[in-house]
Amino acid sequence: MGIILEVKNLTKKFGGLTAVNDFSFEVRRGELLGLIGPNGAGKTTLFNVITGFEKPNSGTIRFDGIDITKKSPYEIVNFGISRTFQLVRAFRFLSCLDNVKVACLSPRGQQVAKKVGIDEYASIILSEVGLIDKARIPPIILPHGDLRRLGIAKALGSNPQLLLLDEPFSGLTHEEQLGINKLIKQLNDNGVTIFISGHILRELMALVPRVIAMHQGKLIDDGPPEEVANNKIVLEAYLGKGGKFA
Ligand SMILES: Nc1ncnc2c1ncn2[C@@H]1O[C@H](COP(=O)(O)OP(=O)(O)OP(=O)(O)O)[C@@H](O)[C@H]1O
Ligand SMILES: [Mg+2]
Repeated sequence: MGIILEVKNLTKKFGGLTAVNDFSFEVRRGELLGLIGPNGAGKTTLFNVITGFEKPNSGTIRFDGIDITKKSPYEIVNFGISRTFQLVRAFRFLSCLDNVKVACLSPRGQQVAKKVGIDEYASIILSEVGLIDKARIPPIILPHGDLRRLGIAKALGSNPQLLLLDEPFSGLTHEEQLGINKLIKQLNDNGVTIFISGHILRELMALVPRVIAMHQGKLIDDGPPEEVANNKIVLEAYLGKGGKFA
C-alpha cells in the first residue's frame, strides 16, 4: 500500500497555545485510519490545517506526492481531499439533492457529472448514503443521523480519493451510529481512503484497523485499536492516572 497523505512535523499555534505540536504521520492508500483524542486534543485543528482552512506555523503536508501545505481549501478539494465538519454545514432551504449537486459542480465532481448528468450523479451519491428517499426534502427537517449522511454525501460530490470525517458519530443515537459505521465501511470498501476522528471510542475502535492518538497537540500512539486502547499514556490522557476503559 502506497502513502497517500504524509504529514511531517506539523505545528499550528493560536497565540500561546500549540494546538498541533510537531505532528507527523502517514495515511496509506485505501486505508481506514482513526484519530482519537480527548476534547481539545487538536483533532479538528489538524483536519483544518490538512484541508487548508488554517495555515500551519511549520511542517509539511504532501498528498499523492504533491506539497499541499500552502494550498487553499478549494485547491485541496481539487487535488482529491474532501472533508466533513463536526457540525454539519448545509444549505438549509435547498433540497438534499440540490445540496449534493452544488458539491458535484466542483471540477472533480464535474468529471463524473459530465458522463452521467449532474442529477443522476447526485442521485447516485444520495442512494449510496441511504438518503435517496429524502432527495426533495430540505435538510432543515432532517433528523441528526440523516444530516450526518448528507454531510458525507456533500463531501462525496467532489469525488474524493481521501475523505476526512470529523467526529461523524457525535450527537447520534446508538442506532444512528451503527448506520454511519456501516456507511463508512462501505465507502472504504468502494475504494475511498478514510481518515476519521472521534472521541466516542467504542464505535471508532470497532471500525478501524489502525488508529493514531493525539493529546495536547502531540502524537502519543499509532497502532491497532486494541493496543492503543491499552497504552498507559492514552489512558491517562482520557481518564487521568490509573484510568481504564470499561
Ligand atoms: N481558532 C482558534 N483560536 C484559538 N484557539 C483555538 C482555535 N481553534 C481551536 N483552538 C484551541 O485549540 C485546541 C484544540 O482544539 P480542537 O478543536 O482542534 O480540538 P479537538 O480535539 O477537535 O476537540 P473536540 O474533541 O472538542 O472536538 C483547543 O485548546 C482549542 O480551544
Ligand atoms: Mg473537534
